[in-house]
Amino acid sequence: MPLFFAVTSRGLQEALVEELSELGAKKIEKGPGGAYFETTWEGCYRVNLESRIASRILKPVLDFTAYDGEELYGQVRRHDFTKYIDLNQTFKVESVVQDSKIHDQRFVAMKVKDAIVDQFRELSGERPNVETGDPDFKVFVRGYKNQFQVSIDTSGDALFMRGYRREAGLAPMKENLAAGLIRLTGWQKDIPIVDPMCGSGTILIEAALMAMNVSPGSLRRGFGFENLKEFDEAVYDRVIDSVADAEKTELPFKFYGYDTDRKVLQNAKDNAKRAGVDHLIEFRNESVATLRPPEGVTKGMIITNPPYGTRIGDEDNLKDLYRDLGHTLKHNFQGWQAWLLSGNKDLILEMKLKASKRHSIFNGPLECKFLCYDMFAGALDSRTFKRDI
Ligand SMILES: C[S@@+](CC[C@H](N)C(=O)[O-])C[C@H]1O[C@@H](n2cnc3c(N)ncnc32)[C@H](O)[C@@H]1O
Repeated sequence: MPLFFAVTSRGLQEALVEELSELGAKKIEKGPGGAYFETTWEGCYRVNLESRIASRILKPVLDFTAYDGEELYGQVRRHDFTKYIDLNQTFKVESVVQDSKIHDQRFVAMKVKDAIVDQFRELSGERPNVETGDPDFKVFVRGYKNQFQVSIDTSGDALFMRGYRREAGLAPMKENLAAGLIRLTGWQKDIPIVDPMCGSGTILIEAALMAMNVSPGSLRRGFGFENLKEFDEAVYDRVIDSVADAEKTELPFKFYGYDTDRKVLQNAKDNAKRAGVDHLIEFRNESVATLRPPEGVTKGMIITNPPYGTRIGDEDNLKDLYRDLGHTLKHNFQGWQAWLLSGNKDLILEMKLKASKRHSIFNGPLECKFLCYDMFAGALDSRTFKRDI
């Protein structure tokens, strides 16, 4: 079976491995920034359509050692790229290189591009066009310690670009990160989720899509694999049908999002509508300081991503915000479980709560903590207020 590589955010690899296994992938192994797995092309279509945690699915086609441009060019030139695309299709090469003798990433991308172009020219006398904006076909090169892996892309736009989010707040979370966090909480799709600082609504929209079994890929305009020569439309149609059959139409519970920024709340509502889950999410203008569980909801989970100072807000106001959050959880949400993603340890300490579980997660380049607080009734005991995150 062909080998593929799923890319994800650092910290989500375990969750990704679990998800790939549920999607029928075989021989799954963690790799740098993601996981390798084996599946058929049909399986690859399915993973692109259904993975909530991967940001891209690559198909490695070459693995070799190279110490200079000539070696790199020669290795790529030997592989037949004309079997993937036609002459009239556009392509682009992206590269990341670390700790290698050839250290210039643009040089690497240029050499690989030249080797591909020259193959076409030799065969037909013509060359395909390079398109940097929205190419039909992408080639990814990763160089580490002089070992180069060349992969063809099967996703096209990154998979976190689901298509429902046009407007976002100041610090929106990527959709695949939100989905990965939800999986890490162990939520069983059976109780309401509250996000007290919901911003553009990403966590709640992802949770609602999950609960409804709506595949994240069904909302977007297409995938890279549809442009490959070996694309099998009949097989893809079969995958789409089986995915659509699993969708639910209603749920016995809801999702609740709060924020103090009215404009951002309107964006969240518009995003939820585009995702087709607006009937499942109630958004309201409310501050963390005064928040109580939604009426009639006695059991639920909180998942939230407060501002943490590097991008929005200022440190002193944020201290108050984290204190308010700690106070609200302790006094108003007893019996609930709360999960918080934050990149600022000092602010987390202001909540004066002790985490029962913790994960290290990268939100873009920033290392964050994803922490779980069990709000037992009686957690007001000051002995639980440890300086421990
Ligand atoms: C980091 S953003 C959340 C981003 C969100 N996860 C998304 O994907 O769009 C934090 C949000 O907290 C909101 N916020 C700040 N102070 C608040 C408060 N006291 N009560 C409720 N929301 C607040 C901000 O308006 C902002 O939208």
